[in-house]
Amino acid sequence: MSAGADLAKPVVVDAALCVGCGLCVRSCPTKTLALEAKKAVVTDQACLTCGHCQAACPEGAVAVVGLDPFAGSFATVTTGSDWLAPGLGDPGELIRLMRSRRSVRSYLERPVPREALLDLVRAGISAPSGHNSQKWAFTLLPDRPAVTFLGEALARFFRKLNAMAANPVIRLAMRLVGRPDLDDYYREHYHSVAQALALWERDGTDRLFHGAPAAIVVTSRPGASCPAEDALLAAQNMLLAAHAMGIGTCLIGYAVAAMQHDRKIQESLGIGREETVYAVIALGYSTERYHKVAGRLRPPVRVFHAPGTWRGHAGTGQDQDAARTGEP
Ligand SMILES: Cc1cc2nc3c(=O)[nH]c(=O)nc-3n(C[C@H](O)[C@H](O)[C@H](O)COP(=O)(O)O)c2cc1C
Repeated sequence: MSAGADLAKPVVVDAALCVGCGLCVRSCPTKTLALEAKKAVVTDQACLTCGHCQAACPEGAVAVVGLDPFAGSFATVTTGSDWLAPGLGDPGELIRLMRSRRSVRSYLERPVPREALLDLVRAGISAPSGHNSQKWAFTLLPDRPAVTFLGEALARFFRKLNAMAANPVIRLAMRLVGRPDLDDYYREHYHSVAQALALWERDGTDRLFHGAPAAIVVTSRPGASCPAEDALLAAQNMLLAAHAMGIGTCLIGYAVAAMQHDRKIQESLGIGREETVYAVIALGYSTERYHKVAGRLRPPVRVFHAPGTWRGHAGTGQDQDAARTGEP
C-alpha cells in the first residue's frame, strides 16, 4: 500500500494501483467504496470487513485491514486461494461427500494432529456469519485427557440432574410452576443417561464422547446477531472438511445442553461465561466402515405460487414438483 493510506479505515485503496474498474465498488455490500475521478475511494459507510472488495480487485489495489493470514494457511490440506467460480466445483463429489459424512461412535486411540484441528477451525471460519460478525470461538480439546476432563464435568452435571429427575416430588413441583422440562427429561433421557453414567463409573466406557481422542467446542462471543446460526454453520463446515481429511466426527448435543445450563463447565475449560456453547464435536479416526451412503426420510417440500399464477393441473390440487415429492 502506498504511503498515506488511512489505517484508521478498515479498507485501504492504493491509488497508484487502482485502475478505476469499479469491481470493488460493485462487490461491496455496504457502499464503503465509491468511484471518484476514476479511482476507488473509501467512504464513511460502515464496513463489514467481508473482504469482497479485496477479492474482487484484479490489481491488488484494495486491502481490508485486519484480515488474518491464519484463515488461509492450511497445514495438512493443500488448497488454492484462487476463487472457484460458480459451476467450477464438482457438485457430484461435493454432494457425495455430504452424504458420506457419518456420525462416528467408535474411534481409534490414534491422536488427531494439532495442525489438523487448526485446519478444521480454518474450514469452519469460511462459513458465513450474520453481519460478518465472526463472533465464533473454538476451544480445542486436543487429546484424550482433555476430552475425559470435560466428560467428568458433564458426568457430574448429569448425576445431579438425574438425582433431581428421579424425584417425583421435584418433577411435580416443576410442572406446577409451568416447567415441564424435568418431566420431559425424565421420560426421554433419564434412563439412557443413568445407564451411560453407570458404564462410565464402572470401567470408563464413554457413551458420551464415544472414546474420541479429541473434541472441539464451538462457542459464540457476545455481539453476534445470529450466534447459533453462525456457530452451527461453522460446525457443519468442520464436519464435512473432517470427513474429507479422514477424520470422523460426532456432534454431542448432550454436552451442549449441559454446558448451556451450567456455565461453570465451560469456565473449567477456560471459556468465559459470556460465551455460549452451540456445538461440541467429538473427533478422531473412525473404526467404522460403510458400503453405501445412508438414506434419509422424505422431507416435507412445499412449492408456493403467488395467488393467480399457479398453472398446475386443474382439480388435482397439486403442483407438479410437489406431486413428485409426494407432498400435498
Ligand atoms: C444437534 C445434534 C446433536 C447430536 N447429539 C448427539 C449426541 O449427543 N450423541 C451422538 O452419538 N450423536 C449425536 N448426534 C448425531 C445424530 O444422532 C446423527 O446426526 C443422526 O443420527 C444421523 O446420522 P449421521 O450424522 O451419521 O448422518 C447429534 C446430531 C445433531 C445434529
